[in-house]
Amino acid sequence: MTNKYMYFIANWKMFGSIKSLNSLDKVIRFHKYFNKKKLVKIIYCPPNILINLMSKKFKNTGLIVGAQNCHENLGYGSFTGSVNCKMLKNVGTKFVIIGHSENRQVGETNKQINLKIKTALKSGLKVILCIGETLNEKRKKRTKNVLIKQITSCLKSIKNKKKILIAYEPVWSIGTGIIPKPNDLYSAIEFIKKKISKSKVLYGGSVNPKNIKELRKIKNIDGFLIGGASQNEKKFIDIIKKTYN
Ligand code: PGA
Repeated sequence: MTNKYMYFIANWKMFGSIKSLNSLDKVIRFHKYFNKKKLVKIIYCPPNILINLMSKKFKNTGLIVGAQNCHENLGYGSFTGSVNCKMLKNVGTKFVIIGHSENRQVGETNKQINLKIKTALKSGLKVILCIGETLNEKRKKRTKNVLIKQITSCLKSIKNKKKILIAYEPVWSIGTGIIPKPNDLYSAIEFIKKKISKSKVLYGGSVNPKNIKELRKIKNIDGFLIGGASQNEKKFIDIIKKTYN
């Protein structure tokens, strides 16, 4: 049981349709009654094509819309298929996920991530920065080295980190059903918090209604970044409820 203010971030990845927005009515109703004590902050990050409709749906509900990525260019430009932060903001986005391992795996670098974060902050968006080690790095006991490298490079010359949430997402736990051992998770989160003072650190990777009972016992976690389970509103609500009782 926790009384802490927690973030619950739904990362829809490349899933969702106009029709699937109907499922959010349930979440809106749940949030209205559950959040009377203002304990939770729910942020939905759908594919870009749904952001505008979702932000209209969330108007005056307290629910927030985020994006899953952005281009590093501050202004407009000839970048086919890309969207910049101003454009995201213009359709109601408040947060943007940057540095997700699914993007790192296809070539996104720490340097690009650093530029994206700067652009997002300049445009008035808040950032959810994803960091985490691969299975190979974990096996070689390099987790802390990887985290420090990612933190230092991605946050290079960014002074004000107040608008940046960190999501610790071990790559081997994403979509696999496997979560870290409680002690390992606690110590990784603590390590990140020591490196970035006053940071809010979330955990992401296979969070579901079953393992949340174990995860919620880890006291230094400030919230969860939820992929697969967030596409089902019942599971998502269940995760939030079980975090608190
Ligand atoms: P998952 O994804 O919950 O499906 O493991 C988490 C994420 O990729 O952010």
